[in-house]
Amino acid sequence: MCGITARVGVGDSSESLVATLENLEYRGYDSAGIAVKNGTGLKIQKREGKVAQLRDAVSENRIEGELGIGHTRWSTHGAPSDANAHPHVDCTGRVAIVHNGIIENHDALRRDLEADGHEFRSDTDTEVVPHLVEDALDAGADPEAAFRAAIAQLEGSYALAMIHEDVDAVFATRTGSPLVLGIGADANYLASDVPAFLEYTNDVVYLEDGDVAVLTADDFRVTDLDGVDVTRGVETVDWAAEDAGKGEYDHFMLKEIHEQPKSLRQTIQGRLDDDGGVRLEEFPQGTFDAVNRVHFVACGTSYHAGLYAESLFGDWNVDAQTFLASEYATHPPAIRDGTLVVGITQSGETADTLGALEVAEDAGARTLALTNVVGSSAARLCDDALFIRAGPEIGVAATKTFSSQVAALVLLGERIARDVTGSPTPDAEARLDALMDLPEHVDTVLANSQAAEVADRYAHEDSHFFIGRGSAFAVALEAALKFKEITYEHAEGFAAGELKHGPLALVTETTPVFAVCNGNNEAKLESNVREVQTRDGPVVGICPRTSDALADTADETLTVPATHPDLVAILANVQLQLVAYHAANDLDRPIDKPRNLAKSVTVE
Ligand code: M6R
Repeated sequence: MCGITARVGVGDSSESLVATLENLEYRGYDSAGIAVKNGTGLKIQKREGKVAQLRDAVSENRIEGELGIGHTRWSTHGAPSDANAHPHVDCTGRVAIVHNGIIENHDALRRDLEADGHEFRSDTDTEVVPHLVEDALDAGADPEAAFRAAIAQLEGSYALAMIHEDVDAVFATRTGSPLVLGIGADANYLASDVPAFLEYTNDVVYLEDGDVAVLTADDFRVTDLDGVDVTRGVETVDWAAEDAGKGEYDHFMLKEIHEQPKSLRQTIQGRLDDDGGVRLEEFPQGTFDAVNRVHFVACGTSYHAGLYAESLFGDWNVDAQTFLASEYATHPPAIRDGTLVVGITQSGETADTLGALEVAEDAGARTLALTNVVGSSAARLCDDALFIRAGPEIGVAATKTFSSQVAALVLLGERIARDVTGSPTPDAEARLDALMDLPEHVDTVLANSQAAEVADRYAHEDSHFFIGRGSAFAVALEAALKFKEITYEHAEGFAAGELKHGPLALVTETTPVFAVCNGNNEAKLESNVREVQTRDGPVVGICPRTSDALADTADETLTVPATHPDLVAILANVQLQLVAYHAANDLDRPIDKPRNLAKSVTVE
């Protein structure tokens, strides 16, 4: 749940370490620090607060070195403070370590180390590592052997990077937390995620669990925990540095909302046949012949993409169910023969989702990762992977990846349905044609949206409800999550028909209700809207331009282009992303980095 980075190469590393940390700040932003090595030992700067505070500290008090490590933190053990910020050092200050993940046996290790006289300066689980390295060094090990000796004692999940004042190398390892090397011309890099170093290199090496890497200015070596060489190839990623920058936008979230036409095109590109079918290279016809049910496991926005797909799969006669990954991991349902478990995860690193996929694998199910990140843990854990190709998403609030997840699930669903039922889904041709037109429709929504005005009107209300049916229910949940996540105002999503079974008691004239209509069951939704209006609740309808029922009933509407009913709610979601964004902006919230959250949640 933190970001780690390292650089070793020609010239000073401190500026690029801070820059790479800025690119990784979406992973955590309560404190940050760097350590660099030069001829006079290790120099460290660390600060509570955002990377900007670290940048100020580094420019006031310059530290330089050709080799260094950096960290941006999302606290798990120990409050955000200068002392708890990484890097952490041993008693002598010769060793510095950064860490992402959780060391589960840190209490016992710390007790033993303190009993042996080690002095701790922080409350973190991480600090045991430099002291363990120190012990091994004192026992005569060289720095690499000492690093191995330390990690052999750790339980939990971790990506670690270490520097030692006498060695021109960075030592790193991963188990359960991501780590990727960047191979550049003048320097080599290491980070929790590729966008960190995209402005320096596109050539990457994905490390696997149990790998130990030694990175020097012009080389890298990867071994297993026993020191046996393993081969990890260099891959070139096709993300551009601009993809990881804010460009002309004030916030990554707004940029990413506006990127949806492009990201959707990327998701769909080359995956639709001229003859009205889908062509998923990874999954030729017959791939899913043995499948008789699908379980989606996911968290947050990705869970809502699963719910969206579940509502469609049901219509297509494919038995599908969506589970919160954290529940699936601890209270799994019966996983019978023929179950395909699809982990939906933008990052591919969400611990809860990985936990659910592991449970599925243990139960003998076939697993598939639907993810944005090639080389991610989910992609490597699962039997198969389908990449949504949305490009890097930096804003903590997931936006473009939701649209791409749903689009990819429509494609995957068509492939599965054809294998499972032996025929195309009902209305396949019209739906897939509409999918081709979806990027253009999103463009229309973005160009004409009145969401800012609606947000201005309702941003300050007590509570915000979102309702819908089927795919529009999934979007109601997603819209409420987005709204609460970035505005800090109360927001809830409900199945429209459930409102009258309890939540209606909360509706007053200060409870705006956003009613999402996907073009199905309009009359029922209209009744639910009237139930709200009778209690003085103002209603904003989000509906296709052609939907007279809601347009005539709601107090105001945000319209979307008319398209296939299965896809309308994706467009409605774009409107609601904009409502959340503008409301948060009105309230002056830190939109890209909401309090207490991080982009990638690698703890359970
Ligand atoms: O990377 P993942 O898709 O697995 O992440 C899952 C959730 O943590 C994520 O969708 C979260 O809910 C978003 N911040 C919501 O905007």
